[in-house]
Amino acid sequence: MKKIAFLFLILSSVVLFAQKPDLAKTPPMGWNSWNKFACNVSEKLIKEAADAMISTGMKDAGYEYIVIDDCWQIKRDEQGNIVADPERFPSGIKALADYVHSKGLKFGLYSDAGTGTCQNRPGSSTFEEKDAKQYAAWGVDYLKYDWCNTNGLNQQVQYTKMGKALEASGRDIVFSMCEWGGSNPWYWAKDVAHLWRSTGDIQDCWDCKRDWGGMGWTLILDQQEGLEKYAGPGHWNDPDMLEVGNGGMKDNENRSHFSFWCLLAAPLMAGNDIMNMSDATKEILTNKEAIAVNQDVLGIQGSKKLDEGNFEVWVKPLKGGDYAVILFNRGDPTVNVNVKWADFGIKGKFKARDLWKKSDIGVVDGFKGGIEKHDVLFLKLIKQ
Ligand code: GLA
Repeated sequence: MKKIAFLFLILSSVVLFAQKPDLAKTPPMGWNSWNKFACNVSEKLIKEAADAMISTGMKDAGYEYIVIDDCWQIKRDEQGNIVADPERFPSGIKALADYVHSKGLKFGLYSDAGTGTCQNRPGSSTFEEKDAKQYAAWGVDYLKYDWCNTNGLNQQVQYTKMGKALEASGRDIVFSMCEWGGSNPWYWAKDVAHLWRSTGDIQDCWDCKRDWGGMGWTLILDQQEGLEKYAGPGHWNDPDMLEVGNGGMKDNENRSHFSFWCLLAAPLMAGNDIMNMSDATKEILTNKEAIAVNQDVLGIQGSKKLDEGNFEVWVKPLKGGDYAVILFNRGDPTVNVNVKWADFGIKGKFKARDLWKKSDIGVVDGFKGGIEKHDVLFLKLIKQ
C-alpha cells in the first residue's frame, strides 16, 4: 500500500508538468566558479568573470551564463529567506545579477535539494517555493541544484518540487540537476529539468580517480556510452563542467577534452580562471567551429563507433547531412590509423575539415595517418 501511494505521488507530481524546452534548445554555455575557485567566491570575482567573458571573446563565441556555485549563501533569516554572505557579496545578489545582465549575459546560482549544500550551506529542502520566488526576484536565469544532505529523500520527488517551483516563479530559469547520475535521471528527468549530471565530479586530469568518486574526463567519457538516446533539444546529459585551462593537463589533452564535450552535445560550462588564461586555453574555449558542432540544431549526442583499445572513433550527425568525427588516441604511442567513413555508417561524398587546424583536408573517403599521444583529429564532414 505504502509503495502504491509513493508511486502515485511520483506520477502525479511528474505528469502534470514539463520544463520549457525552449530555454535550452541547444546545450547551455557559460562559466561556473566551482572547478577553479571552489568556496572562494565573491561579487568581485563574479564581476571580473563577467567582464572577462566579453574581453576574451567568450561571449562572442556563444558563452552566456555566469553561474556562482556553492558557498554564496550563509544562512536563512527569521522568515526563512536565504541570505547571501554579506562580506563576500556586500551589494547583494540582485545588484550582481543586474551587473551581469548589463553585460548582455545571464546569471546563475547554485542550491541543493537537501537540507544543506555540499559545503554545508543552507539547502532548499522544504524551501523550494520560497527560494524559487527569491531567485526570480533577484533575476536568476539558471539554477544548478545539487544532491548533498538528502538522506532518505527521493531524487524524482525533490527535483520535481524545485522544477515546479521554478516554473511557477514567473521567470525563465534553466534547471540544471546535479545528482551525479545516481537515480539514472536520463530515464525520468526530461520533463523536470533541462540538464542532468550523469556522473560524479570531474577532476583536472586525464584519467585519475579519487576515493570519493571524482574522476578524470576520459573516465567520464566512458560513462556517456549508451546515454546518447536520452539527450536532445531542451534536455541534455551533463558530463560535468570543463577543466580546460586549469593546469592539470597539456594543451593537446585539453583540446581532446573540449572536442569530446562538443561532440557529446554536453553543456559547455568553462571552469577555469578566464581572467588570466593562456592564449592556448582561450583558443580552445573559443573555437567557433568546434562550438558549432556542440550547438548544432539537431541536438544529437555523438556516440562511439569504433573501439580498438587506445584508438576510438566517435561520430555526431549534424544538420544538413554533415557529420562531426573524432579520431582519438587515448594511449601513449602515436597510433597509425586507416579508416573509411563508410565503416561508421557515413555514406556519400564529403569534404573533410580539420576543426583544430581550421583547414580543409579535401574530398576524401577516409583518413590515413598518425594521431599523436592523447590527441584527437576533430573533423567536420561536409556533405557534397
Ligand atoms: C558537488 C557538485 C560539484 C560542486 C560541489 C560544490 O560535488 O557535484 O559540481 O557543485 O558539490 O560543493
